Amino acid sequence: MSLDWLAGPGGPIRGEITVPGDKSISHRAIMLAAIAEGTSRITGFLEGEDTRATARIFSQLGVRIEIPSASERRVHGVGLHGLRGTDEPLDCGNAGTGMRLLTGLLAGQGFASRLVGDESLSRRPMRRVTEPLARMGARIDSAPGGLPPLLIQPVNGLRGIDFEMPVASAQVKSAVLLAGLYAQGETHVREPHPTRDYTERMLAAFGWPIAFRAGEAAMLGRHVLTATDVSVPADFSSAAFFLVAASLVPGSDLLIRRVGMNPRRTGLLSALRLMGADIVEENPGEQGGEAVADLRVRFARLHGIIVPEGLVPDMIDEFPSLFAAASLAEGRTTVAGAAELRVKESDRIATMASGLRALGAMIEETPDGAVIEGGRLHGGDTDSHGDHRIAMSLAIAAQQADGEVRIADCDNVATSFPGFLELAHGCGFGLRLA
Ligand code: S3P
Repeated sequence: MSLDWLAGPGGPIRGEITVPGDKSISHRAIMLAAIAEGTSRITGFLEGEDTRATARIFSQLGVRIEIPSASERRVHGVGLHGLRGTDEPLDCGNAGTGMRLLTGLLAGQGFASRLVGDESLSRRPMRRVTEPLARMGARIDSAPGGLPPLLIQPVNGLRGIDFEMPVASAQVKSAVLLAGLYAQGETHVREPHPTRDYTERMLAAFGWPIAFRAGEAAMLGRHVLTATDVSVPADFSSAAFFLVAASLVPGSDLLIRRVGMNPRRTGLLSALRLMGADIVEENPGEQGGEAVADLRVRFARLHGIIVPEGLVPDMIDEFPSLFAAASLAEGRTTVAGAAELRVKESDRIATMASGLRALGAMIEETPDGAVIEGGRLHGGDTDSHGDHRIAMSLAIAAQQADGEVRIADCDNVATSFPGFLELAHGCGFGLRLA
């Protein structure tokens, strides 16, 4: 039986909170620490199902990973060539990042691996990684349509490629770079629009020579990764739900501590400010080589905008919460250039449109976005379709609805944001288990 929530109305949203560690960085930290020489300590690790699945997979591949305390891991790296193959399937759960990055990392091994995922992940396109990896010499079989499960065959080395990426995707870029660790010659990736650069930054932190700038990265294969400590900042994408909720609910005044502020992640901040939001960055600093800041958000009257297409990759995970904000803002919001939303954990244009429509919102879907007329919302029955970010975004919208909102199928919130319900309830959300 699935876990349902009853949400809203609620607020004001007040207090001081810390959200869990960054999902993208946590996945990468486990991966690089596992194939580094020596022992790495990861703090601020996201105790989410996605990132724990990645850690479990490396344990299956022979890496000893200790858990000294919650959100901490000690990873005893086995070196670039120290992983041991297993006949068991490697289960990535719900995690697209886990599966795509692992496909790159495992493509150059001398053993076979079988990557599987849950129902949602089993519907997500993998050709975007298997095609460039095949050009590098990898042998990867998939289910019809290029879908998981993926069977990665052993190969005798890979070769570097110069890869012009057709989609702006940090997962695709990272898969190719991780394969590039095992490749002869240079691996060069060029993006149609810069995406999050955590893989590049972390490779450099583990001592791998890599040249990168916005939209481009190049490196040679066959060096050594040296263990290092990684301090993971709080996930901007998790903070985003609270930025939107506190902006929407009158009387709100919330401080979110030490949030990761990598500019490739903070597009929503720019979009919300264009809509009239009152969000102030305080105490800017650095954590684990990443910019961090406290974010203070107060209620503001939001108005509709045309979301600048240049912001789309920098807020790709935040459209569900932007849709919630737009449905309660004054006037029309237009989103275009965001077709990638259709191949996330769910088709996020369709699932948000149907969820918000059930609450009375006026949303017209387009192939690559939506047109949303802001107004009032009422209570009703909605469905997250097992998508963590849809569940949390509908819960935000519900805070300003005129009645209670039922949200079905919220189990997967634990993939990225364990403890969301308690944290949200604690700062004023109307939110409980059904
Ligand atoms: C991620 C990249 C993005 C993002 C995902 C995490 C990453 O996916 O949506 O949540 O960690 O590299 P795409 O590469 O598919 O855009």
